[in-house]
Amino acid sequence: MSAPAPAPAPALIVVPPDLPRDWLDPVFDHPGLEVIVGLDALPEARQPELVGLMCLLSTPIDEALLSRFPALRVVANVAVGYDNVDTAACLRHGVRVGNTPGVLTDATADLAMTLLLAAARGLVEAREDALAGRWQKWKPDRWLGVELRGAKLGVVGLGQIGYAVARRASAFGMDILYHSRSPKPEAERSLGARRCTLDELLAASDFVSLHVPLSPETHRLIDAAALARMKPTATLINTARGAVLDQDALIAALHAGRLRAAALDVTEPEPLPPEHPLFSAPRCLVLPHVGSATATTRRRMTELACANLIAGVEGRALPAAIDLGAG
Ligand code: NAP
Ligand code: GLV
Repeated sequence: MSAPAPAPAPALIVVPPDLPRDWLDPVFDHPGLEVIVGLDALPEARQPELVGLMCLLSTPIDEALLSRFPALRVVANVAVGYDNVDTAACLRHGVRVGNTPGVLTDATADLAMTLLLAAARGLVEAREDALAGRWQKWKPDRWLGVELRGAKLGVVGLGQIGYAVARRASAFGMDILYHSRSPKPEAERSLGARRCTLDELLAASDFVSLHVPLSPETHRLIDAAALARMKPTATLINTARGAVLDQDALIAALHAGRLRAAALDVTEPEPLPPEHPLFSAPRCLVLPHVGSATATTRRRMTELACANLIAGVEGRALPAAIDLGAG
């Protein structure tokens, strides 16, 4: 009788140090994996063994990183946006990439709607005035916001989140315009959404909400010229990526009163230093990238990233794979 074959060595994977340990149970409990928490904890001598890497959107997955790990087969990004990933380099290195679409759609759309409502009613300014002692009596003409019913929302990028925002806004009585590369018949049918060019959308909308992925095509899509096309009574919402917008042009437009308000969940850079002029621009609400920040959604994103990582390590199709050839 021949001796049984030795068990294969476990596959080495790295997960980010910033995720709660129990969200990562699927990888820690999975047989055949050796899990290291944090790339910094991976000894240099073991770099050639790394097969799978889970990362946050703050980790650039680029040529420099990929060339350190010749055995890497899969990267699992804990985000739907993957502008941190050099897709061409991954293709060259034979590394598959997963992301987390869908599971964060509702949370992010809720946040976009929160920003829209807060900007519409000047929530932050009203609270600041009250705290600063400027709330001396109830005045009928003080802290006047704008109504949503009958207002036009222009959705730039009518994908999963853009559509979810449009559904919410439609329930508030808003008219929906959208700009996307391809028509969205379902949104047109169910919401009466109207497709238009970006210029038409900017000129007609009372609120413009950005939902395109950051790509070479969408970098600074909303620049000074685009902002100048918007109505001075319009409000800009950005929950996509900071670099989709020219922030300096936005700051200038807000100071000059050429735009009613802005509400941003994403900025460039992130984190945005507290002394950044965006924080002191008038009628500008800035949040620290919390679009998907509910415990339920962040856990779901991590679970999908775990599933992508395990599938990639085992050579199976990723549950949510990025098309590396498309970029
Ligand atoms: P998605 O379903 O892929 O939607 C993106 C949409 O943008 C697509 O439907 C696409 O439609 C459209 N698009 C792409 N390039 C365009 C262009 N050049 N011009 C016009 N439209 C374009 O993605 P999603 O799940 O909605 O997420 C969208 C983005 O939101 C992510 O990439 C990420 O950057 C951001 N995000 C932020 C947070 C946050 O915490 N703030 C959370 C989640 C996501 P067509 O192909 O038809 O043009
Ligand atoms: C968050 O910004 C994401 O892209 O998931």
